[in-house]
Amino acid sequence: MSAMPSVYYYDEHPPEADFYAEVIAGFKRRPRRIPPKFFYDERGSELFDAICRTEDYYPTRTEQALLQQHADAIAELIGERCLLIEPGSGNSEKVRLLLDILRPAAYLPMDISRDFLYQAADQVAQEYPWLEVHAACVDFTAPLSLPFCPPVSRKLIFFPGSSIGNFEPEQAETFLRNLIPVAGPQGSLLIGVDLKKDPAILNAAYNDREGVTAAFNLNLLHRIRRELAGELDPELFEHHAFYNDTLGRVEMHLVSQQAQQLKIDGQLFDFDKNESIHTESSYKYTVEEFIELAGRAGFTSRQVWTDPDQLFSLHYFDVTG
Ligand SMILES: C[S@@+](CC[C@H](N)C(=O)[O-])C[C@H]1O[C@@H](n2cnc3c(N)ncnc32)[C@H](O)[C@@H]1O
Repeated sequence: MSAMPSVYYYDEHPPEADFYAEVIAGFKRRPRRIPPKFFYDERGSELFDAICRTEDYYPTRTEQALLQQHADAIAELIGERCLLIEPGSGNSEKVRLLLDILRPAAYLPMDISRDFLYQAADQVAQEYPWLEVHAACVDFTAPLSLPFCPPVSRKLIFFPGSSIGNFEPEQAETFLRNLIPVAGPQGSLLIGVDLKKDPAILNAAYNDREGVTAAFNLNLLHRIRRELAGELDPELFEHHAFYNDTLGRVEMHLVSQQAQQLKIDGQLFDFDKNESIHTESSYKYTVEEFIELAGRAGFTSRQVWTDPDQLFSLHYFDVTG
């Protein structure tokens, strides 16, 4: 008899009022800024997947190749039947490169984009009927706690996609430090980190020729209109992304194409022509810079893999003993 897929759901989605409060606060400050986690409603998650398939967006295919190539070595480092935890799991595509080789005791995808997460978890459970899947809708910028924890010897936290780059470096350190109690003393971290490189490659990746990244960025304004009854016209803003060499990060902005007034819940916001809303930063790190940052947070480097063009890095860390 074949095993039945088993999937469990845990909903700790932040209250909808958080979106309202953060948009209002973000529009009141200068420069205007909205945290990138608000990109990800169901439409935003679909658009992110489409970005990953564009020719210009090298990180996804480069990281997938590294995972494929080094899955055996990763399995050797973590051993059998670990608990596999993936914050920001999105479509759970990359983890499929590890599941058959790692044979974890259970898989815990975690994401803020609830419907998209649950659909991805269902799909994984269908494809891997021997695997227990526990999908938790959470905001990982708050300290993580596990909704489910079987008695396993080791835990592996998988954090691909260079999502770590979306934190300011100090916040990235705090985020990693908060993972230590989740991983436990025998725990490990497998994390994908985009490398510093020729700015032309970065500028192309965040300004893909198909305009998918622009649509992803602008979806934030559509979301404000849909969910907060915001009175604004997304067409009067333009996607702008560039590598800021001084700060070592790609910045994404929405730039107002004219002087205009936006209205949310009776509150008015005046935008000058060319005034921007900063929607995302993606910090890039050298291998050494990242090992140092993770070291400060309490992780010891065990292995680093990079591709021949030095575009992307995959790090394996143990919790420092
Ligand atoms: C850059 S995408 C990476 C997706 C996938 N891990 C990959 O490597 O392709 C970031 C993912 O993290 C999720 N995410 C972003 N901010 C989050 C937050 N604060 N809490 C939980 N999930 C978040 C998004 O919904 C999205 O699935």
